[in-house]
Amino acid sequence: MKSIDYDAIADLYDTYVAVDIDLEFWRRRTAAISSEVLELMAGTGRVSLPLIRAGVRLVCVDYSAGLLEVLRRKLATEALTAEVHEMDVRALDLGRRFDLILLPFHAFSELVEAADQRAALRAIRSHLTSGGRFILTLHNPVVRLRQIDDGLRERGRFPRADGSKLVFCSESSYDPATGVVAGRQVYRLLDADGAPAEEREIPVRFVLPPPDEARALVEAEGFRVAEAWGDYRDAPLDLGSSPFVIWSLARVEPRCPRSSNRGGRAPTGRAHADRLDLAAAVIIRRATRADLRAVARLEEESFSGASFPAFFIRQAYDAFGELFLVAEEGAAVVAYGLGVAQSGRDDGWILGMAVARARRGQGIGAAILDELVAAFRRVEVARVLLTVSPGNVAARSLYEAHGFLQVDEEAEYFGPDEPRVLMARDL
Ligand SMILES: C[S@@+](CC[C@H](N)C(=O)[O-])C[C@H]1O[C@@H](n2cnc3c(N)ncnc32)[C@H](O)[C@@H]1O
Repeated sequence: MKSIDYDAIADLYDTYVAVDIDLEFWRRRTAAISSEVLELMAGTGRVSLPLIRAGVRLVCVDYSAGLLEVLRRKLATEALTAEVHEMDVRALDLGRRFDLILLPFHAFSELVEAADQRAALRAIRSHLTSGGRFILTLHNPVVRLRQIDDGLRERGRFPRADGSKLVFCSESSYDPATGVVAGRQVYRLLDADGAPAEEREIPVRFVLPPPDEARALVEAEGFRVAEAWGDYRDAPLDLGSSPFVIWSLARVEPRCPRSSNRGGRAPTGRAHADRLDLAAAVIIRRATRADLRAVARLEEESFSGASFPAFFIRQAYDAFGELFLVAEEGAAVVAYGLGVAQSGRDDGWILGMAVARARRGQGIGAAILDELVAAFRRVEVARVLLTVSPGNVAARSLYEAHGFLQVDEEAEYFGPDEPRVLMARDL
């Protein structure tokens, strides 16, 4: 059963949902993506149409035949193309993966049962490339709950093209035990003279889980929060006051040592689970100015004598911010990675990477490397290069495990007694 039967009001949806607060946000998130982007629960294309007009290669999924018919009609009117699938996200099956998946307008809340949410997350994860992003938008319950009141109330009057008017009314109540909001929406149509012409009513149900529960759920399904925002202007998330909880989620990949097929012992389930847990507790995000001291400390701890000086780190932040990432755990920066894209060329370089000594060997270096590679892809770098000291076995095997191959070795790369191995990976 559908928690909201949009088919019954498909012809009215665009009349009363005239929101545009999130459109610029989605344009920013998709601007640099040249591959196909998957939009889930796309409805009549409120978000889709502006993105397709801007050149995004969109694949739209929704399970309401009525809303999709409206979307298809709008596409045809503007001679735009997009792949449109009538499909339930819980059984998503498109047979391919995407670098970017969007779920706009807090529609995930319409998956009311935990089993449905888990099924959807599992299906979505299987459509996300490693290094890809799934942007999930949720209501922040502390703010959204203020708009819930018992009693049928008029929410707005909307003029229609034929001179008639739609009066939109709703009522709902919240069950704190389950987090479920249930109620009804009433659609009253008035003719051009203001006389009642038609009335429709649909039941509505959606859920407002506390953000910590929602986070536990996405983490249990193999995602990690890579970035978080509190509104559509990219403001940082503040759970006490932000209207929305917007997460950019990355896949957490199981990190099992490769089997040697020579009788080596397989990792125990427990060791494997520990690694997943650790990676999930870490957020990888763009560096801010406030992180630069911590980055300098990581550099000093890792490369004392040859570390980047503070002034370089500051300038790198100004110059290459998009490719300057930190791994944050609690309030602490536990790793960083810095890349640069060569202007006018297809190459990018990893200039620096360091993980706090106490946190090495726990998958954090691998996670930040995944993110850097994804960030290079977003700026359309075709090949990533790096140098590493020949004696730094741990770093070399990390890079090899991520597809980097040695392409050269120079005895005095940084001067006397400073040999470096040059490694590269095509994206
Ligand atoms: C609030 S509307 C949002 C529509 C559109 N994204 C927008 O921003 O206007 C929620 C959408 O989610 C769709 N939806 C709800 N549950 C779904 C499911 N299990 N599978 C696919 N689509 C679903 C509905 O049909 C509806 O189009």
